[in-house]
Amino acid sequence: EAVLGGAGPLSGRRVLVTSGPTVEPIDPVRYIANRSSGKQGHAIAQALRELGASVTLVSGPVQIPDPDGVVVVKVETARQMLEACQAALPADLAVCAAAVADWRVAEPAAEKTKKAEGVPPPTLQMVANPDILATLAAPGPNRPKLVVGFAAETENLIAHAKAKLARKGCDLIVANDVSQGSGTFGGDDNQVHLVGPHGVEDWPALSKLAVARRLAAHLAALLGGTK
Ligand code: CTP
Ligand code: CA
Repeated sequence: EAVLGGAGPLSGRRVLVTSGPTVEPIDPVRYIANRSSGKQGHAIAQALRELGASVTLVSGPVQIPDPDGVVVVKVETARQMLEACQAALPADLAVCAAAVADWRVAEPAAEKTKKAEGVPPPTLQMVANPDILATLAAPGPNRPKLVVGFAAETENLIAHAKAKLARKGCDLIVANDVSQGSGTFGGDDNQVHLVGPHGVEDWPALSKLAVARRLAAHLAALLGGTK
């Protein structure tokens, strides 16, 4: 039933949401991750489901419950997240709320790295991860009609978000300031700005669920009657 969605303006729509951090191994016991709680991404999956969409939520490791009525695919690394997203296509809408690690350790050690007398600390050789949002937004037969990204910034929020909109090829960027107050990692509130090709819409500080519901309604209106 979960895959069928429900009644509402997004009934019959397939949507993909990414959420949470990715974790990238250093060795079997150590990893690189980030402060994403998954709260905003999971709330968006819930809100889209409330409007009737069939939702696949691809999530890195988080401490919060799975939303009801949503297919949840749990992953760890960025490369696993990309693979799971591509497996969830085709979709009408993709919302990339995950905090994807930009880099991974080039060659994770097969065994736990051990200390030894007189041996200096290891240095980590990193390589770039794939950009999931840019990959989903790239032109092609499988491109969702609407591809939405996030921009978490600590400075020059709108300028960075506009640059991301262009660089990623997506249709909309939800920009939030993670430097202080509302929108900080792990909190329950968020203040966002919708940055699209035609301008910027400033939203007030709201709970993450309220942001999600307002965003879901906005996206449902943008998708409109296009089938
Ligand atoms: N994103 C992604 N895959 C990546 C990196 C980012 O899908 N490898 C997505 C995020 O989910 C978000 C958007 O791209 O929707 C912007 O992420 P962000 O980290 O703010 O942008 P970057 O392009 O990675 O730039 P930077 O971290 O340098 O600001
Ligand atoms: Ca990044």
